[in-house]
Amino acid sequence: MRFFSVKHASCVKGEILLLGDKSIACRSIIISAISCGKTTVENFPPNKDCLSTIKTFKNLGIKITQNQKVKSLPFKGIGRTTLLGKTITVFGNGLCGLKKPKGPIFVGDSGTTLRLTLGVLAGQNFAVTLTAGKSLSGRPMLRVTAPLRMMGVEISARRIPKTKNLTPSAEGGSAYGGNTKFEEYPPITIRGGNLKPITYRMPVASAQVKSAILLAGLYAKGKTCVIERVKSRDHTERMLKLFRAGIKVNDNTIVIKVKKELVSPGIIFIPGDISSAGFFMVLGTILPNSRILIKDINLNPSRIGIIKVLKRMGSDIQVSGNNAVGFEPIGDIIIKSSKLKSTIIKKKEIPSLIDELPILMVAACFSKGESVFEGVGELRIKETDRIRAMSENLKKMGADIRVLSATSRGGSAKNFGGKTARSEKIIIQGGRPLIGATVKSFGDHRIAMSMVVAGLAAEGKTRIDNITCINKSFPNFLNLLKTIIQ
Ligand code: S3P
Repeated sequence: MRFFSVKHASCVKGEILLLGDKSIACRSIIISAISCGKTTVENFPPNKDCLSTIKTFKNLGIKITQNQKVKSLPFKGIGRTTLLGKTITVFGNGLCGLKKPKGPIFVGDSGTTLRLTLGVLAGQNFAVTLTAGKSLSGRPMLRVTAPLRMMGVEISARRIPKTKNLTPSAEGGSAYGGNTKFEEYPPITIRGGNLKPITYRMPVASAQVKSAILLAGLYAKGKTCVIERVKSRDHTERMLKLFRAGIKVNDNTIVIKVKKELVSPGIIFIPGDISSAGFFMVLGTILPNSRILIKDINLNPSRIGIIKVLKRMGSDIQVSGNNAVGFEPIGDIIIKSSKLKSTIIKKKEIPSLIDELPILMVAACFSKGESVFEGVGELRIKETDRIRAMSENLKKMGADIRVLSATSRGGSAKNFGGKTARSEKIIIQGGRPLIGATVKSFGDHRIAMSMVVAGLAAEGKTRIDNITCINKSFPNFLNLLKTIIQ
């Protein structure tokens, strides 16, 4: 086993540019592929997940090329002088232009690729099997297969009876109607065509599930409606509007109409990934005498929960710009070291910072007082069980951290088809120094990066097993870190 060692750093200073946002980049390939025309995607992040999206759509007969020579400054108004990431061109083949592949398609470990691709396959007139890597093969899929079945899609998946140990509970986990004594996992075989529209009240806040239904809605005869209890990231809605889909958003209700064809906007710039920025926001806050400028990051209101929470905790974060270049707000942020105080993160805030919870748990260890993270059950079913991974690791470094869980019946969940909901809370008593220890990444990119940040701020040396998983979302994380560590 190769361990990665991190020593305490005194401060971080500098300016960084980040690769494009993973969620937006995956969607840019999928939606361009089913549109009419050629789409050039700038600042595309060459991480494992986004490369899986490209491979999947190449397997579905879409021509996708990587431009060798790129012109500078793709968009007016961004003020960027260095081009980062890749420039990718997707040759769209129209809504029904995907081709039946020769065999099963392997989607790697990208949950966004798998769940959103199911949405567009729901509209294609052929059968295809999607297989996944080890981590994604253990993640629940009933949340997406159930609504697609309601729309008339033939879909089968590996079914396993639910046992306490097998399926970690998530909020609204039993809320899909019908027999919920089983859960479904990849591989998934889907045969699309002949879809009927549905009105679907989301039992869980999941942008991946919402997006799959909206994409399938492009093919369903009539109006498909998705109602969210709490708004999850809205990149699909924004991008579908950009491609001139018939989509209307009214608070938490989204209506999409069947469409003849989507029209490519020609060029898309992917703003920097705010989830990647999260690691630098926390590091710049907890290390003394630090200042980091992060340029051109996505400031979509459905993603900026981390900025709101850190500011509430006393972090000195200045946000400027917020230009809506194209279809997503973009801006710069400056982070300066600050003394943090504890906070309570409410369940309704979770979707806006779901991927930043591990790094916020590190921030809570460095803040004065007791922080509470409410309604975090979805963390159990990410790349790993992130509640277990972070609490085991942080405890090894001396943190005072507890996890409480409770099962509730009925209530408002009923309207969303839910019977029981298990809600979990993490409580962190901050303010005592973390001490370097030997910890694990659990093969999860966000756990690995959170532990690198914890190690840089802790006393002594921290060793982390296998951190190659970082490539899933942020291949240049360590190189960027080196440029700002003083
Ligand atoms: C994502 C949505 C979230 C997030 C994931 C990316 C997306 O997942 O955790 O990393 O691209 O839509 P859920 O939809 O399961 O909440």
